[in-house]
Amino acid sequence: MRRILIAGNWKMHLNVQQSSLLVHRLSERIKTHNDIEVVLSPSLVSLQPMSLEIDRRKFRLAAQNAYLKDEGAYTGEVSFTMLKELVHYVIIGHSERRIYFCESLETVRDKVAAAFRNGLTPILCIGENKEEREDGMTKQVLHDQIVTALYNLTAEEVAKVVIAYEPVWAISTFGGELAKPAQIETAIKFIRHQIAQLYGQRVADEVRVLYGGSVDDQTARGYLEIPGCDGALIGGASINYMKFSGIVDAAYRMLREGTKE
Ligand code: PGA
Repeated sequence: MRRILIAGNWKMHLNVQQSSLLVHRLSERIKTHNDIEVVLSPSLVSLQPMSLEIDRRKFRLAAQNAYLKDEGAYTGEVSFTMLKELVHYVIIGHSERRIYFCESLETVRDKVAAAFRNGLTPILCIGENKEEREDGMTKQVLHDQIVTALYNLTAEEVAKVVIAYEPVWAISTFGGELAKPAQIETAIKFIRHQIAQLYGQRVADEVRVLYGGSVDDQTARGYLEIPGCDGALIGGASINYMKFSGIVDAAYRMLREGTKE
């Protein structure tokens, strides 16, 4: 069984002190559960103190970004090599990085390879924008993003990748239109189908696929129950301790009540 993953992307919010307070509040509310993995992704400056503070049975850490080279004269950048003692995951290819920082398909591919080279697991974000959906290009966009990003990996590595399907138009800061469960289910099926074609059915069955886009404590359960959906990547609601712990609780209740397919 694929383990449910609930990941909070704090984006460029919260300083070290505020991050510490949020972790403290989340720790009080979130219980450990063998079948649910909870991942927190604070800003880079908070990663080091948080790596010492967190209860590792409860939380794992993710970096929001890293540079594709391991070392060198790249002023202002931080490498996967530097992060590997601190985090388990790295978010790669988030639409904000693709849009605001012009990250190309090839950059995302090289970052995914750099993550594996350094023993880190990518949370690879993919998803179409509104125009692409309206033009009937969703599958083509997902296909291109998957094929390029995974290009340098072995089947064993691909099986470990976490893919987050995040339609750009559903992300709260890019419009926040609520995606319909049927749209998400179709996209997730397509993603697994692509992986199966490229790396075989066993790998496709192992890859975890999350949903991201305006998930909060009210909507989480509906998204988590979508067949093939293995969790959520949460932006805005992840820096609100009531909402984020409510999302983890929704996953917990879903498993307890056995409503997951
Ligand atoms: P959101 O962000 O939950 O605020 O829509 C999701 C994301 O950007 O990963």
